[in-house]
Amino acid sequence: MTERLKFICSLIDKTESFIDVGCDHGFVTEFVYKNGLADKITACDISLPSLNKARKTVGAGKAEFICADGAVAAKEYKTVLICGMGGMEIIRIMCGCSPEKFILSPQKDVSEVREALLKRDYRIVTDRVIRDGKKYYDVIKAESGGGKAQLLGANPLMIKFGMFLNEHNPDLEAKLNNSLAAVSGYKSTQENILKAEDLKEAILWQQRLKKL
Ligand SMILES: C[S@@+](CC[C@H](N)C(=O)[O-])C[C@H]1O[C@@H](n2cnc3c(N)ncnc32)[C@H](O)[C@@H]1O
Repeated sequence: MTERLKFICSLIDKTESFIDVGCDHGFVTEFVYKNGLADKITACDISLPSLNKARKTVGAGKAEFICADGAVAAKEYKTVLICGMGGMEIIRIMCGCSPEKFILSPQKDVSEVREALLKRDYRIVTDRVIRDGKKYYDVIKAESGGGKAQLLGANPLMIKFGMFLNEHNPDLEAKLNNSLAAVSGYKSTQENILKAEDLKEAILWQQRLKKL
């Protein structure tokens, strides 16, 4: 299993019902089954060939396999995992359900996902950048209740780059530096200048924390 998938799996608590939305290879569903983490386990994918990959990994009869849009399929589950999709698609799926816990790994628009969780009163309890090979991935776990209060107390930079920006994480610092290098190579528009300023500020937070 990759570092990203290992970290995602480490966030899954024992639960009554679990759904892996966009399961594809099925490695996370298999982990939940093998570790007895849920009474009801469902692997869901909108693509039948992808769902069949999960069926092959996990084994027929060991979980329920549903070929459907997660926005419809995830309604009744206590833990909903949606990883490896764009943030806006994750938000659309999230809006179709109200589980006790979400575990999410958006490939882009991560700040929009944070904001959507907090506005729906989900408190973000884990928000970590994980390096996997040459890539960096955001992984977020959120629990029902307390999100609106967390939003009120959050600095805008935390919504943009991570709710735990005030804790040093070498992978987060490296990702911020990479993003700054990328933005610095873009056209010098007002938007890009502001993005670079935010990134510099976030990097300073991380560097100060490293010295403590
Ligand atoms: C890149 S794979 C991610 C696989 C795995 N979750 C991971 O993080 O490694 C994305 C999967 O999500 C599925 N998918 C995309 N939109 C979906 C939706 N609305 N409902 C269910 N599955 C969806 C795709 O078919 C694809 O198999």
